Amino acid sequence: TLQQIETIEALREQIRAARRQGKRIGFVPTMGYLHEGHLSLVEEAKKRTDFVVMSIFVNPLQFGPSEDYERYPRDLERDSRLAAEAGVDLLFTPSVAEMYPTQVKTTVSVSGVSEPLCGRSRPGHFDGVATVVMKLFQIVQPDEAFFGQKDAQQVAVVEQMVRDLSVPVTIIPCPIVREADGVAMSSRNVYLSPEERKQAAVLYRSLQMAKELLAQDKAPAQVRSEMMRLIEAEPLAQIDYIEILNYPDLTPVEAAGTGQQILVALAVRFGATRLIDNMILTR
Ligand code: PAJ
Repeated sequence: TLQQIETIEALREQIRAARRQGKRIGFVPTMGYLHEGHLSLVEEAKKRTDFVVMSIFVNPLQFGPSEDYERYPRDLERDSRLAAEAGVDLLFTPSVAEMYPTQVKTTVSVSGVSEPLCGRSRPGHFDGVATVVMKLFQIVQPDEAFFGQKDAQQVAVVEQMVRDLSVPVTIIPCPIVREADGVAMSSRNVYLSPEERKQAAVLYRSLQMAKELLAQDKAPAQVRSEMMRLIEAEPLAQIDYIEILNYPDLTPVEAAGTGQQILVALAVRFGATRLIDNMILTR
């Protein structure tokens, strides 16, 4: 049965009890408004650990001043039902005052992997992510933590932080869950108008095209411009970035190469809604 807990102290007590029973702790951090992407992380956590903690916290530190913190979708009642059905053991839903009782003076900043892609379009975003994830790791002290490849750069940032600071947790990256038309599941998809939602399917089509072109040894720069052409054909799409980088270090790719992992990543605006998607390939 699902326990819902709002304070750090009560959470620590429950986790101590689970540990006393010899249970391994799995952790799934989220900002809520749960969908099958989030629930796939729980499923993986249940396979690999004995006691699954999910957090739901819309973290103000990771939103820029003109971003959607205020209107980010929230529905705790529905989330709590979905978490229970998925088999979450403990749901941690702290308030902002519980997480940040005083102004934050200590932050975690990961250089390098935080800088390209979303780091460029959302200054400070990954400092906010790294800081809250580090804090949640200190609170939960999980054995394993589960993150979606939907946010491939976030995975790279968290893995770098864990290595650099010797955080005793294993990061488990999990595959992207998509809708039937290929659109990656996201809490932000609810912002899309029906027409925007329809056109958003171009993002996955562009990634599939990129996969084919790269398999044919097309140069990354050429693949990138083909993707731009395809996406720009949708009248409501406004490209923020399309990048092809080495993975997981997120450095620029050479024109030719074989055997390396590469990340094809994009951010595209449909109206006021910014969507991200990506694919990790070997070439
Ligand atoms: P949120 O956007 O709620 O996502 C929580 C987790 O679900 C992340 O690891 C994300 O990559 C994963 N996820 C989202 N959509 C997915 C999809 N379609 N398929 C697979 N996994 C998916 O990411 C955050 O919250 C926050 O930055 C957080 C890590 C909680 C820190 O505040």
